[in-house]
Amino acid sequence: MTPQPTPRERARLALEAARARTLALTDCLDDAELGAQHSPLMSPLVWDLAHIGNQEEIWLVREAGGRPALRPDLDPLYDAFRHPRAERPALPLLGPDQARRFVAEVRDQAMDVLAKAPTAGSPLFEGGFVFGMLAQHEQQHDETMLATHQLRQGPPVLDAPAPPPAPDEAALLPSEVLVPAGPFTMGTDTDAWALDNERPAHTVRVADFWLDTAPVSNAAYQQFIDDGGYQEPEWWAPEGWAHRQREQLEAPLFWIRDQDRPGGWLRRRFGRTEPLPPDQPVVHVCWYEADAYARWAGRRLPTEAEWEKAARHDPDTGRSLRHPWGDQDPGPEHANLAQRHLEPAPVGSYPDGTAPCGARQLLGDVWEWTSSDFDGYPGFTAFPYAEYSEVFFGGDYKVLRGGSFGTDPVACRSTFRNWDYPIRRQIFAGFRTARDARFSEDG
Ligand SMILES: [Fe+2]
Repeated sequence: MTPQPTPRERARLALEAARARTLALTDCLDDAELGAQHSPLMSPLVWDLAHIGNQEEIWLVREAGGRPALRPDLDPLYDAFRHPRAERPALPLLGPDQARRFVAEVRDQAMDVLAKAPTAGSPLFEGGFVFGMLAQHEQQHDETMLATHQLRQGPPVLDAPAPPPAPDEAALLPSEVLVPAGPFTMGTDTDAWALDNERPAHTVRVADFWLDTAPVSNAAYQQFIDDGGYQEPEWWAPEGWAHRQREQLEAPLFWIRDQDRPGGWLRRRFGRTEPLPPDQPVVHVCWYEADAYARWAGRRLPTEAEWEKAARHDPDTGRSLRHPWGDQDPGPEHANLAQRHLEPAPVGSYPDGTAPCGARQLLGDVWEWTSSDFDGYPGFTAFPYAEYSEVFFGGDYKVLRGGSFGTDPVACRSTFRNWDYPIRRQIFAGFRTARDARFSEDG
């Protein structure tokens, strides 16, 4: 066993890893591309860059360090609540070089604060929380920036090796696994860097259910398309059908019909057009598409509690694990995370990441839509500010779980909760389906 780093060392490593990724995602483009808006859904990349620095200044330099503000004039420009993404290109933003200098200056001070800060004694500092929060914030923006790269037109600028092929035994896996009924611990009180919406730990009773062993594949999703799934309102929630018609959805985002091969599909991925790999999890579907597919398949999306139970409940000990495979940090053998690859791995990959229930790829590859609305757990307390989670509660957003190939391990664990509008498709989201066990077993 490698010794656990101290909270201070863990924070330093996490902040450095986040910064290396931020720079890799921005240094590969020229100034014009960094300032351009590649989609009305996204900020110019140079906005994300300086926003990362502004948040770090607010939380680490001013709040944690008690130091004077470096650039208080930037606060309104980089306040995500004040300016919707579509407005951001018109703001008097820092240019790329100014933004790079700004984030570097903030980082120098933040590292100095980290070296002297307590790592216990108050919720903000306990276990290095506030530093971990900022590392997660930067990595979350890095994933958003990766989504901007995917939306960008033009020749490819990102490269990564292909994920490893699925093991031979993947073909023999059952299509679904049983998660037996009973209580489990949802959420956490003990994970030092867990965010407010993951807390507090509480007991949830879940009836037994069947869950897909792996996320739904491109090949399976194509059957839904071939079967006329996009033309049949019966499969769609009413709002989903209206949205499908309005937006004329016919396939996942970035799918292109292959003119040379009737019924075949290509996909665009980070500037490359290539044959659609049938055995990879489907990605870039909105919640309405996932919901419609599940109904067509005679199934449903799992609830958030079902998903989390499958991803961490260990029936042998009754404990909830930090990750499906146990409490160890994610390594390359466990899950497709950290932008190590620029696509999901084939379904059935990562046997070392298998959950106690037998499900695979619960972490990494694709975010998984659940049927649940985003809300606070019983006993929720906003910390350290309501705008982190609380303002998003109330039913407008659906919960996604598990992280994607573009999610860093620091912002991915079996308790981690993501949320988005049910129409969103630019995120790296897929899904798996479930069904009640009691009905089918007894009935
Ligand atoms: Fe942010």
